Parts: sequence; structure tokens; C-alpha cells
Amino acid sequence: MTQAIKAVPPHSQYIIDDEPYYQETGDEIALYQAAYDARIPMMLKGPTGCGKTRFVEHMAWKLKRPLITISCHEDMTASDLIGRYLLDADGTYWQDGPLTTAARIGAVCYLDEVVEARQDTTVAIHSLTDYRRTLALEKKGELVNAHPDFQLVISYNPGYQTLMKDLKTSTKQRFAALEFTYPEKETEIAIVCHESGIDEETAERLIQIATHARNLVGHGLSEGISTRLLVYTGQLIAKGIPAVAACHMALVRPLSDDPDIRDTLDATVQGCF
Ligand SMILES: Nc1ncnc2c1ncn2[C@@H]1O[C@H](COP(=O)(O)OP(=O)(O)O)[C@@H](O)[C@H]1O
Ligand SMILES: [Mg+2]
Repeated sequence: MTQAIKAVPPHSQYIIDDEPYYQETGDEIALYQAAYDARIPMMLKGPTGCGKTRFVEHMAWKLKRPLITISCHEDMTASDLIGRYLLDADGTYWQDGPLTTAARIGAVCYLDEVVEARQDTTVAIHSLTDYRRTLALEKKGELVNAHPDFQLVISYNPGYQTLMKDLKTSTKQRFAALEFTYPEKETEIAIVCHESGIDEETAERLIQIATHARNLVGHGLSEGISTRLLVYTGQLIAKGIPAVAACHMALVRPLSDDPDIRDTLDATVQGCF
């Protein structure tokens, strides 16, 4: 059996060249910078579509670190993160998984929606998050010492947690956390205008609808209208779709299958436009 390692991918392929637009909502940039300087693993908490991924992209760019993003899902195994032996015409070779690559090249490694992963998978990250900063490739018999610039970041939506799907306390307590939520009105107007190209007045009306829907959370809605959906709606309007149709398509229909909620929100849309 040959045990060659295919070359580690070049660091430059994961570098973000252009500044990802990010509108700060508090002091999260300075807080994250300090956590990175201390190499503290970070957890970004908050509902979907409120800027967590964009924030990590912005920070990786600012820190000039490569970014490796892994979307977690329930079929993900530890091998998907760490690596495995593969077979080709020359025999078997070891293929690093994305977590191993990140640890070797000193990337920011972003595990998106980490609760989706099975708990045995999340345990694989433990040794990387404490003073050891190591990753054991058990099948290969190698202990990888993380590059000094490596940092682990996870995102986590507390709204989705159930008894079956929650992070173990022993995992949670390995991270410092930043809480994300829908931005303040003026900030969200700026984001929606920048991302879609619509004018401020239209953005403000969209946010009025979102505010109404966000107040229904817990009263028939499990989650509010995200900034992402506001951006989609703005983009449709910028393409010439009438505002009411754009709102139906991108704000209301994706949000709920409940006819009562849909009718309530459709009425709010009619009232705003
Ligand atoms: N603070 C922000 N600054 C810039 N864009 C934002 C911000 N918050 C949300 N967005 C916009 O909303 C979209 C969804 O945000 P994203 O980071 O993908 O959400 P999450 O990862 O929290 O689900 C982004 O693509 C961006 O257009
Ligand atoms: Mg995301």
C-alpha cells in the first residue's frame, strides 16, 4: 500500500481578495479581532440570514487569513472533516479533509450550522479548541499540530435546537460567542440598499413589513423575515418586479405555509405599498 499524501492545496486558493461588504451592527469587529489575536475559538449565534457568514468572510479578509467553510449536515462523518484514504490508479493515498487542511495552512475554519452534524463529528474538533491545538488523524497515525494562525469558528442557530439536536455543553464551553440578530432599522436600510440597489424609501417599507413579521415570532411564526429575504426582495424590485409581487414571492411565501399567517402578511404588504 502506498501512503503518499497528495500536496496540501495552496493557501492562496482560500484567500479572499476583495473586501466583503459588511455593515457593523455593534462592536463585533473589534471583539472578534481580539478573540482571533488570542486564538480563541468563536461561536456565532443567531437566526438564519442575519449576517453571520458575511461577517466571517469579512473578518477573514481583514485578518488576511484563508477561509475554509464547511456546511455541516446530518450525514457528515468525522472522515468528511478530517480525511480518508482514497484509491486511484497508483494505489491508495491519504486525502486531507477540509478541517485538516485548515489546521495545516493556518486558515480560519468556519463550520456552518454545526448542530446539524452528528455529535461524534463535533467531538473531533475538541482537541483543536483547547491548549493542545492538535488534530489526530487516527487512521493515518498522524498528529497534526495546528498552524499558529489557525482558528475555528462555528455558527449556531439557537432557534433550531431540540433535545435531539443541541451542542453538548462540553463542546459549547470551548468557544467564546457573539450574538447576531436582525440589525437596527438604519443599519438594515443601508444593507438592503447596498445589496440590492433599491432606494432608501423602498428599503424602509420592506423593513416595516419585516418588523411586523418579526413580532409574530412565537405567535405562529418560528422565525422572522431575515435580512437575506429583504435583500432578495430588493433585488427583484431592482429587476423591475412590482413591489407587492416581489414581497409575496420573496418575503411572505418562503416564510410560512400557514394560510392565516400568509394572509396577515399579505395584508401588511398591501398596506405598505
Ligand atoms: N451586517 C451585514 N452586512 C452586510 N450584509 C449583510 C449583513 N447582514 C446580512 N447581510 C446580507 O444578508 C445576506 C445573508 O447573510 P448571511 O451572512 O448569509 O446570513 P447567515 O450566515 O447569518 O445565515 C448576506 O448575503 C448579505 O447580503
Ligand atoms: Mg450562513
